[in-house]
Amino acid sequence: MPVTNAPLKTLTDAQVIEQLRALRAKQPVKYTAFYSSQLGGIVTDPALMVIPFDDHMVHRGHGIFDTAGIVNGKIYDLDAHLDRFLKSAERSKLMLPASRDEMRDIIIRTTAASGRRDGSIRYWLSSGPGSLDLAPAAGAEPGFFVMIFPGLVYPEKWKTSGVRVMTTTYPIKPPLYAITKTTNYMPNVLMQMEAKEKGFDNGVFIDHDGHVGESSNMNVAFVSQDDVLAHPKFDHILSGCTSLRLLELARTLVPKGLLKDVRVTDISLAEALAAKEMLLIGSSVKVAGIVQWDDHAIGNGAPGPISRALLELLEEDMRTGDRLIEVVY
Ligand SMILES: Cc1ncc(COP(=O)(O)O)c(C=O)c1O
Repeated sequence: MPVTNAPLKTLTDAQVIEQLRALRAKQPVKYTAFYSSQLGGIVTDPALMVIPFDDHMVHRGHGIFDTAGIVNGKIYDLDAHLDRFLKSAERSKLMLPASRDEMRDIIIRTTAASGRRDGSIRYWLSSGPGSLDLAPAAGAEPGFFVMIFPGLVYPEKWKTSGVRVMTTTYPIKPPLYAITKTTNYMPNVLMQMEAKEKGFDNGVFIDHDGHVGESSNMNVAFVSQDDVLAHPKFDHILSGCTSLRLLELARTLVPKGLLKDVRVTDISLAEALAAKEMLLIGSSVKVAGIVQWDDHAIGNGAPGPISRALLELLEEDMRTGDRLIEVVY
């Protein structure tokens, strides 16, 4: 923006709206519906999908969120995501603006209003506006927001040729903040930026005891040389809804002889690097095989059979499982 001596304008309401629309024209987004408890309803114009600047979530990071997927006009595993949302709210000392059932209903109805049949639903809880203080403003009303969007998209080659990760140089979040899905993703963002700068696809946190943690917005899991699926414990990382579901589904691969066992355990970096297969797991990536970690090639350098089998199990569950919620569009 060029520096001028012209006085700064005090804008009219109409100019503000015009400016918000101009911003969206520069940065076109595909947000199809947004519910805000502060607005008291749904808006479909992305220029109006706004939150007051003094909301505690904006200026102090005192907010939480979660994301669930929309698959073929149904919402997948929403109740698991809502359970985690409520646990995050409790740990963050955030009040709920409505009951769980009411928030669930708002999520479903915002999805219906969006008309989107495939994509993602992200929803937030904020402690509300009213001051720029450290503590929430006196009498602040918690805010609940729901955004319907296309979802995160990863390169097709992640599926076909696998993903390359590096050990991040950024420290892992302390356990309380790692198990709580707060709006502070600074370490996760910096880890991903660092990986891109160094020519990798993503990073992985290692904890202070040398155990493998998680990636930026995904969990990691391993298949040992003796065919055990091992996943890091959830006491220092986010309880990924996708990982938790896959740990159940993966058990069906044991009687088929594809896996010997499924374990949730501490995993050292050395154990991880000795794995036959490594996986990235999350609502957005689903299951992707890791083929390189730092300068170590993993397996034969291509996504392995367990990564493919788990992706199939997950996709089947998303199409026909018992964790789908009907949306009446
Ligand atoms: C830090 C972190 N770890 C793991 C995950 C995977 O969780 P989920 O499977 O619920 O998407 C996410 C995504 O929400 C995340 O942000």
